[in-house]
Amino acid sequence: MLLCLEYCRLIFSCLRVMLHLVLRPLWIGRLRLALTLLGLPRTVCTAGVRPAISCSKSHSFATSQTVISTSWCNLYGTMPSSAAPHTKSRCPQYPGSKVERFPVPDDKVNWSQNWPQYNPVSHTDPAVLKMPEWADPDIGSFHPQFNAVDGCVDRTSFEGSYKIENGMPLNPLGRTGVTGRGLLGRWGPNHAADPIVTRWKVDAKGAKMNHAVSKRPILQFVSIKRKDCGEWAIPGGMVDAGEQVSLTLQREFSEEALNSLDAPATERAKTHERITKLFKSSGFQVFKGYVDDPRNTDNAWMETVAVNFHDESGNSVSELPLQAGDDAGQVKWVDVDSSFPLYASHSHFLEVVAKERKAHW
Ligand SMILES: *[C@@H]1O[C@H](CO)[C@@H](O)[C@H](O)[C@H]1NC(C)=O
Repeated sequence: MLLCLEYCRLIFSCLRVMLHLVLRPLWIGRLRLALTLLGLPRTVCTAGVRPAISCSKSHSFATSQTVISTSWCNLYGTMPSSAAPHTKSRCPQYPGSKVERFPVPDDKVNWSQNWPQYNPVSHTDPAVLKMPEWADPDIGSFHPQFNAVDGCVDRTSFEGSYKIENGMPLNPLGRTGVTGRGLLGRWGPNHAADPIVTRWKVDAKGAKMNHAVSKRPILQFVSIKRKDCGEWAIPGGMVDAGEQVSLTLQREFSEEALNSLDAPATERAKTHERITKLFKSSGFQVFKGYVDDPRNTDNAWMETVAVNFHDESGNSVSELPLQAGDDAGQVKWVDVDSSFPLYASHSHFLEVVAKERKAHW
């Protein structure tokens, strides 16, 4: 059975590469969407699902009486940019491992600070070293073109040109205490996309509802429950090789929203049509740049583009039959509100959206 799956995966990978070469990337998305619409479990044949954000919880350690959570890695919190540079990228324990980062104090993060004592730990996860489709080979025999679009892989950074040292790219924000790639597939920037789909909250008569305190209208956004850790998040994902970001945004949203629907094929086709239409609108770019992520290393880091697609009239995706407010559901409409517990950078994205749309926050 396992062998069969591997075989299937191999054939599918080859097919996709061939298609990439022959057809424009757009068609890959159509194919994948078609598979999704047909209800085919595309995860079986593709190289694994990689979330755009890491699930690592705040690192806790138990003492005899209490459980103390280190604030350094807190999942929920305010945007750290105002304080120290990339704090989650320096969280003591590297996610999914027992690897302890070499501690980097705030004043030694910047590479321009001379620090001969710096002795980072080398770590690349075994899953990455197995070279799945989404991962690069190890540096040595592999000489990618950094700061450029390298074949199908976009190795440019939103943060400008990054430095290369001993053949390896350097994190543009500075030291992290770990070298190698950790859980990330690409050397240098690893690009993700976060679609933020919103509608206005309305009452039974369809009138906008205002928040009791702020008196501002309330936005709702589509949130998914992460399968790996059960946390609510924006349905983002990694940009595939050769894929346009605009397509990643739609694909990630479609996969999450559609797969959750227990709807007949005709219903799904209609939903797909609506989603396509909404994502064809230009959207509002909320954020583009480096993400302070616990998976970041000195040589590999997360970057994302977050775009808000808003259904102003309420007659497009607003009608998606997501189980609003139902905790059993994997996808739901959630009120945009500063108190909703969300991954810190996602919370910041929603704040930007709320301000832009003059909504309650
Ligand atoms: C690091 O320091 C240099 C020189 O002071 C400065 O130009 C650069 O912006 C700093 N980098 C970051 C990421 O803060």
